[in-house]
Amino acid sequence: MRIGSALAGTAASMAALAALATLVGGWGLPWSGDDAKPAAKTYEPPPNSAIPEGKFGDEVRLGQNIFREPGTYAAHYVGNDLRCSNCHLAAGRLAGSAPMGPAYTAYPAYRAKNGHVNSFEERLQGCFRYSMNGKVPPLGDPVLVALESYSYFLAKGLPVDEKAPGRGFPELPKPPLPADFARGGQVYAQHCASCHGPDGQGQSSGGKIAFPPLWGPRSFNWGAGMGSVKNAAEFIHANMPLGLAGSLSDQEAWDVATYMDSQVRPQDPRFTGDVQETRMKFHNTPTSMYGRTVNGAVLGDPAVTPPAGTVPPAASAPTPSGEAK
Ligand code: HEC
Ligand code: HEC
Repeated sequence: MRIGSALAGTAASMAALAALATLVGGWGLPWSGDDAKPAAKTYEPPPNSAIPEGKFGDEVRLGQNIFREPGTYAAHYVGNDLRCSNCHLAAGRLAGSAPMGPAYTAYPAYRAKNGHVNSFEERLQGCFRYSMNGKVPPLGDPVLVALESYSYFLAKGLPVDEKAPGRGFPELPKPPLPADFARGGQVYAQHCASCHGPDGQGQSSGGKIAFPPLWGPRSFNWGAGMGSVKNAAEFIHANMPLGLAGSLSDQEAWDVATYMDSQVRPQDPRFTGDVQETRMKFHNTPTSMYGRTVNGAVLGDPAVTPPAGTVPPAASAPTPSGEAK
């Protein structure tokens, strides 16, 4: 079992092995279906067994398939190696990792990001454009209808309320010390690299992504919500390391989020042609590293920005094998 030797020696490797063992049963879905274990007991989505028969149930099932495997079921619109469920854990069911049910009940809503009231479908489009670094499915596209049906199904019983229980990520207090790239690098090496790889490019097994890439050409682009250090710190504190959620201090979560969001990744699709102008227009906040200089490179500068689009997994990334299929 090569994964054992590849990861040997650290406490984190034990967590990696535990996660891999869990992945064996339901590929990429550590808490698939009825086994969903919300971090906070605030949101209990219906189990898959409650999906009705018939045309509507078919849409719900298709939506869940797209959510878990967008590269297969919505390939035309996907431009990287991520899945919706990599960030919205337990196939969009887990409270505290921006679950789909409480999101569904929160739209239409005004979004400062684009300056108008967004329908739920338009909100879905945003995650394709930025998080999936892909193409935007047109309104009414079967992909959006299926994802909307799945989200509606998961919202059963929730109030129509932008503060429905379990929505988004739990608030994380500001850290005692200013967030720091170098300290974040140490947190990364100790608590994340065993799964996401020392270079942040993730790991594959049997041609499938077992641990998703956190930066570089196959990850989310500069316009994505996860590219905000605040969002990333909140997500990471509530959900990572996988299997040990909540074990990082607030400071460690802010530091490692800063480290992750100070790496190169595909260009913001709203790029105006000028990095500082793009920063002023779309990233003018302390929680975006876009346009900042890190280790001598200006983040977002075309000279250091990898091309958009799916590229094969780096041949150098260690590949778990053996039982982890
Ligand atoms: C790289 C991680 C990532 C991936 C991949 C991703 N998302 Fe998201 N998504 C986020 C983050 C972070 C937010 C919250 C962003 C914010 O508040 O600005 C979010 C927000 C959302 C919301 C709104 C949630 C709310 O409560 O308002 C929906 C709906 C959504 N995503 C759907 C999807 C779908 C569908 C896919 C796959 C096509 C997807 N996401 C892929 C990270 C991701
Ligand atoms: C035990 C293995 C493991 C460890 C350790 C781990 N992760 Fe993850 N991480 C995963 C898996 C698996 C997913 C995707 C979850 C899914 O699809 O259900 C993920 C998803 C993510 C995502 C969202 C997807 C993406 O590619 O952007 C981020 C961000 C992330 N992890 C950051 C971290 C950080 C930072 C650490 C260290 C503090 C960490 N992870 C530690 C296994 C791990």
